[in-house]
Amino acid sequence: MARVAIVTGGTRGIGEAISLALQKKGVTVVANYAGNDAKAQEFTDRTGIIARKWNVGDFDACQSNIEQIEAEVGPVDILVNNAGITRDGTILKMTYQDWKEVMDVNLGGCFNMAKGVFLGMRSRGWGRIVNVGSVNGQAGQYGQVNYAAAKSGIHGFTKALAQEGAKAGVTVNAIAPGYIDTDMVAAVPQDVLAKIVAKVPVGRLGHADEIARGVTFLCGEDAGFITGSTMSINGGQHMY
Ligand code: CAA
Repeated sequence: MARVAIVTGGTRGIGEAISLALQKKGVTVVANYAGNDAKAQEFTDRTGIIARKWNVGDFDACQSNIEQIEAEVGPVDILVNNAGITRDGTILKMTYQDWKEVMDVNLGGCFNMAKGVFLGMRSRGWGRIVNVGSVNGQAGQYGQVNYAAAKSGIHGFTKALAQEGAKAGVTVNAIAPGYIDTDMVAAVPQDVLAKIVAKVPVGRLGHADEIARGVTFLCGEDAGFITGSTMSINGGQHMY
C-alpha cells in the first residue's frame, strides 16, 4: 500500500514542490492550503493531488481534517509541516496581531498537525515528520522577530518530538531552507533581497525542488536512523 502524506501549505511554493516530489516517489499526497482557492484548483487539475482547505493555526480544524483524511484516504504515514506566513517589520512597527498570526501558523501549526497524527504513527510503528524551519530561525533576520522566533521554535520542537517518536519508528527532522525563489521571497523589497543574495556563497536564490529533494530523502523507507536532525539547504548562507 502506498504511504499517505499530508503536506501543509502544499499547493504553492516550496510545498507544491514537496507534494510533487512525494507523489513521484509513489506516495499518496493530500495538500493542505489556507487561502488561494484558484491556485489550489489549478494545482489539483494539473497534478491529481487532493487539496483541502483549512488553517493549520486552528487546532480543531487540524484534528477534524486529519480525521476525515484518515477515513477517506488512509492513515497518515508522512507529515510535512511546511505552511508558513510572514508579517515582516521591525519590532517598533510589528503589531501583536503580526506576532500572533506568525506564531499560530508557523509554530502552532506544527503542534496542531503533529498532535493529530502522532499516536497513529506510533501505534503502526512507522512515521516521518519533516518540519520546514528557516535559515532565519537559525541566524535571525532584521525585521522578523516573529518569524525567526517561530522558525527557531520549530527546530526545538523537532528535537523534542524526535525523542518521543524514536523508539516507535517515527522520525522527526527539520529542513532549514535559505532564500528560495517563491512568492514569499519575491515580496521582500528588491534592494533588500539583492543585499541578502550577495552574501549567499552559491550566489543565487534556491529553487523549491532543491528543498523537496531534502524532504523526500528524510521521508525515505531507509531513513529510519536519521532523526532529530536539521538539514540546512541554503546555498552556504549560514554554516554552523
Ligand atoms: N541590518 C541592520 N540594519 C538594517 C538591516 C539589517 N539587515 N536592514 C535594514 N536595516 C536598516 C536600514 O539600513 C535602515 O536604516 P536607516 O534608517 O538608518 O537608513 C533601517 O534599518 C530601516 O530599514 P528599512 O528601510 O528596510 O525599514 P522598513 O521599515 O521600510 O522595512 C523591513 C523593514 C520590512 C524589515 C524590510 O527591511 C524587509 O522587508 N527586510 C527583509 C526581511 C526579510 O529578509 N524577510 C524574509 C522574507 S522570506 C522568508 O522569510 C523565507 C525564509 O525563510 C528565508
